[in-house]
Amino acid sequence: MVRILVTGGAGFIGSNFVRYFLSRHPDGFVVNLDKLTYAGNLENLADLEKDPRHEFLQGDICDAGLVKGLAARVEAIINFAAESHVDRSILDASSFLATNIDGTRVLLEASRQHKVHRFIQISTDEVYGSLSAGAFHEASPLAPSSPYAASKAAADLFVRAYHHTYGVPGIITRCTNNYGPYQFPEKLIPLFISNALEHKPLPLYGDGLQLRDWIHVEDHCAAIDRVLHGGRPGETYNVGARNERRNLDLARALLKILGRPDSLIQLVTDRPGHDRRYAIDPTKIERELGWRPRVSWEEGMHQTVQWYLGHRDWLDRVRSGAYRTYYRAMYEERDDTLSNLTSASSVEPNRERV
Ligand code: NAD
Ligand code: DAU
Repeated sequence: MVRILVTGGAGFIGSNFVRYFLSRHPDGFVVNLDKLTYAGNLENLADLEKDPRHEFLQGDICDAGLVKGLAARVEAIINFAAESHVDRSILDASSFLATNIDGTRVLLEASRQHKVHRFIQISTDEVYGSLSAGAFHEASPLAPSSPYAASKAAADLFVRAYHHTYGVPGIITRCTNNYGPYQFPEKLIPLFISNALEHKPLPLYGDGLQLRDWIHVEDHCAAIDRVLHGGRPGETYNVGARNERRNLDLARALLKILGRPDSLIQLVTDRPGHDRRYAIDPTKIERELGWRPRVSWEEGMHQTVQWYLGHRDWLDRVRSGAYRTYYRAMYEERDDTLSNLTSASSVEPNRERV
């Protein structure tokens, strides 16, 4: 599969994947469709600007006419395009329904009409919900907690339905928390790095003891490439690094690398409905496709911090404009913003410092 349509390829994982794919497949060709929402950024693709194997198009995956024309030109579609931030979905879920659910349906419909050889849906471990012990496997029930996770679960069900009903060769990947270069600084790691660089507080939600399994974005890209070339249609593959970290420990580790004091950590009002722990079992992709994560946590964290240190201009630009408005509402006016939500009544504020 060499001619592919990547959607959301100007975002964090999509841009890393386009770079990964073209570097591994010299005869590859990528059509990259991205709406360039607040999270999409052509600077993430600047080094590919002159590469004749990469064609960028600004557009919406919900635009059926546009998507149909593009599907006719490729062998496979990999759908990264999404509204991806849990906090934003709690404030307003409407764009999550449009892009994550209906956009996926539009792509599936075009795949059906043009008999695309593979449709890869980039899903998330969040569709399984939270669990206190053990790990979810691919057949575990879906129990999404946030509006974001619910929209991703709905999209997964559409992929399943299009495979079952029309034979669309869809495959779902469900990955854990990614980190690495080009991640938008609304997400934990780049947000904490950029705040620490400016000696600003690191806002840790609730008690900070939530657990996430962190994987370097390049390992995720390698897994997707394996699935594209060897995955079985109709199947789902969990992608995780068995690298569980408590948010508090992660914050301390980042501060240590940056030479900043732990006193920058500030506990703030929790995210409504915050999932305590995500954990998935990646045995299936390891056994079937021989994939293994390669980047160690220590190496990956150091590399990532170095990348943000070396890209202060990138960081400054993405944190200007609309980001400031978002940051003010989400952090500086956090209690007002959350108390405007009906679900906020169940949230217990915790103002102690760590
Ligand atoms: P991101 O927010 O950085 O990028 C999303 C991209 O999609 C942006 O470039 C945006 O402009 C584009 N986009 C949004 N709506 C669009 C639309 N209607 N049409 C076309 N393009 C549109 O997200 P990310 O972190 O790179 O995540 C990529 C995918 O991976 C998402 O589907 C997400 O659910 C999934 N995922 C993310 C993680 C993670 O840790 N970040 C983990 C597992 C799965
Ligand atoms: O698990 C995969 C998912 O990981 C992806 O599907 C999502 O697209 C991606 O955004 C990510 O979701 P999370 O909600 O886990 O990521 P986030 O970076 O927003 O938060 C990570 C943890 O850190 C979570 O427990 C909430 C906490 N957090 C986050 C922010 C932004 C804080 O304590 N403070 C913060 O300011």
